Amino acid sequence: MDMHQGIFISFEGVDGAGKTTQVNRLRDELEAMGREVVVTREPGGTPLGGAIRKLLLHGVPGESADIAPRAEALLFAADRAQHVAQVVRPALERGAVVITDRYLDSSLAYQAGGRELTADEVRSLSMWATNGLLPARTYLLDMDPALSHTRLDHDEDRMESAGDAFQRRTRQAFLDLAAGEPDRFRVIDASGTVEDVWRAIRADIADLL
Ligand code: TYD
Repeated sequence: MDMHQGIFISFEGVDGAGKTTQVNRLRDELEAMGREVVVTREPGGTPLGGAIRKLLLHGVPGESADIAPRAEALLFAADRAQHVAQVVRPALERGAVVITDRYLDSSLAYQAGGRELTADEVRSLSMWATNGLLPARTYLLDMDPALSHTRLDHDEDRMESAGDAFQRRTRQAFLDLAAGEPDRFRVIDASGTVEDVWRAIRADIADLL
């Protein structure tokens, strides 16, 4: 029988901060320690989520109207609801470590930090969607979006092309969220090398386990 307790970890930060690399490092480290690890992401961690992700990042083919802010928030919340029900909760229940590349703080930073909805509205929506599931630990990979964007190795999608002022507000929103929940968040300077960032995460992991 697996005597481990499930642990839920999220990574957050502006686009291009290097989350994916660090998520994979952490998976390797935890697997080497004998843990079952499930790596996943939002949006798009399930087949339904994959379809929602396409709508969010590339819009509806042939449609020129913008996605309304409330519709956008609901689509991210729908993706999250399915993700938690289909992937995250079942894995936690069997004792796995679940590492997700983005979770509800992305909705708070992008949908409330940058656009017209309040943080309270977006938080309630997400808490309803997930039936109240929060990560035990959230690593915020923090860096200047003007720098992180130069790291992106693909063409900008709808969210990434929202403009410098939007990206700066999003970064600040993440930092404010972290300041408000210091027990859950660890803020990590992501402008250093991959090794520097990884050292900071690894140093914290022992505490978490
Ligand atoms: P991501 O998968 O990190 O992008 P990529 O694979 O291109 O690096 O995230 C897609 C975009 O969706 C990203 O710009 C952040 C945004 N996003 C939100 O606006 N709200 C959310 O709740 C989530 C999860 C992501």
